[in-house]
Amino acid sequence: MIIRLAGLALVLAVNPVSAQSLGPAPDPVAALPGYGRPVDVEATRLRRQQLALHTGPGVIVIPAATSRDLEDLVLQDNDFRQDDYFFYLTGLESPNAWLVIAAGASGVEQSHLVLPRRNVRQEQWTGRKLGPGPEAAELTGVMSVLSLDALDSLMAASLSQSGGPLRTVVARQSEGSGRIRRWLDPAEELIDVRPLLDSLRTVKDDAEMVRLRRAIDITALAHRAAMQAVRPNMYEYQLEAEIEYTFRVNGADRVGFPSIVGSGPNSTTLHYDINRRRMGAGDVVVMDIGAEYGQYTADVTRTIPVNGRFTPRQRDIYSLVLGAQQAAIDAVRPGVTFEELNGIARSYVDEHSGELCGGQSCNRYSLHGISHHLGMRVHDVGDRRLPLQAGAVFTIEPGLYINDENLGIRIEDDILVTATGAEILSANAPRTVEAIEELMRGASRIP
Ligand code: GLY
Ligand code: MN
Ligand code: MN
Repeated sequence: MIIRLAGLALVLAVNPVSAQSLGPAPDPVAALPGYGRPVDVEATRLRRQQLALHTGPGVIVIPAATSRDLEDLVLQDNDFRQDDYFFYLTGLESPNAWLVIAAGASGVEQSHLVLPRRNVRQEQWTGRKLGPGPEAAELTGVMSVLSLDALDSLMAASLSQSGGPLRTVVARQSEGSGRIRRWLDPAEELIDVRPLLDSLRTVKDDAEMVRLRRAIDITALAHRAAMQAVRPNMYEYQLEAEIEYTFRVNGADRVGFPSIVGSGPNSTTLHYDINRRRMGAGDVVVMDIGAEYGQYTADVTRTIPVNGRFTPRQRDIYSLVLGAQQAAIDAVRPGVTFEELNGIARSYVDEHSGELCGGQSCNRYSLHGISHHLGMRVHDVGDRRLPLQAGAVFTIEPGLYINDENLGIRIEDDILVTATGAEILSANAPRTVEAIEELMRGASRIP
């Protein structure tokens, strides 16, 4: 009986105080039965055109990800995640497909989508797939749709008509696409199209921003839910469950990376994701989390006091990190570099450490750079050395990690570079000491 009561108490403790939800607004790109989400036909057409304009004449071939069998013989659709390059250019979640672009001097001359034929017996197990046919053309806006059996002859014809080389994502040749090399004579060159695609992917278009904003909004809600649910003696995995429950209940497809929920000593381990410790009343807990929605992931970190109120020491270190982050955010504009932003954050810490770290700069506890691009990958593609352009999305995430005090503080927000400055996309997650404590007090956990 006692055990049963304890179990009940635990359930009450971890069940959501309030199931955080984005509310009645419709899921902006809700799933279509069998095909993933609808394709933004115009956005993907423009991306293909941009690519072809940059490459000039030749043939571009992009393989989709292959379906994989993670659980021995049990193949399920959830095991599959589309290749980011293929997704960028097609918006399609179909496995084992190919995109072939014949490029001329004025951009795309013809795009071809190559799809495996449907297999009704297989579909009984893993659901309906998009096969070659008019439905695929209508869904994707790629008017030439062929079956996989026609790929070799399509490539032979495209290469013989082309006035230029073959380009592909060279690194993926080993994944079933060693086949690509066989389409060429040994002396013919194969050019890696990734640097170009990576550079295009650095600036997000409107269709990408719809998905990214949704991923980030969901993640901010999860932070709010966690702030309201956390309490001393809870396990880190219970807080992780609250977070990931909020992801799924709002339509996130999966986590963009394993959730980091590190309390007390674990708060100083940068990518701790075991999440098994029982949290104590005086601990802080670092929650570095990101929902993935429609192939795009958020990456937002909040550090909060488990009992709802920062100690004076925690508050001082937190305020120093927050000040450094804000100084970097204030400096964001087109043309700035990650290195400059990092320097601004470090200078802030140097100038404001006072006696907080024994009279030295608290930067001795700073262990990592503060920025990376964000998009389909949590550490997204793009050259980190180049000046930022309007439309880029990236993180600003300073942290200080004081092992001797079991005190790690990281604050991470997702930033859109605008024409004149920055938009904090993750602003819905409380960030100041006052806002965090107020939300936690409002959850009536704290007297
Ligand atoms: N979540 C990993 C990172 O912040 O870089
Ligand atoms: Mn992060
Ligand atoms: Mn990050």
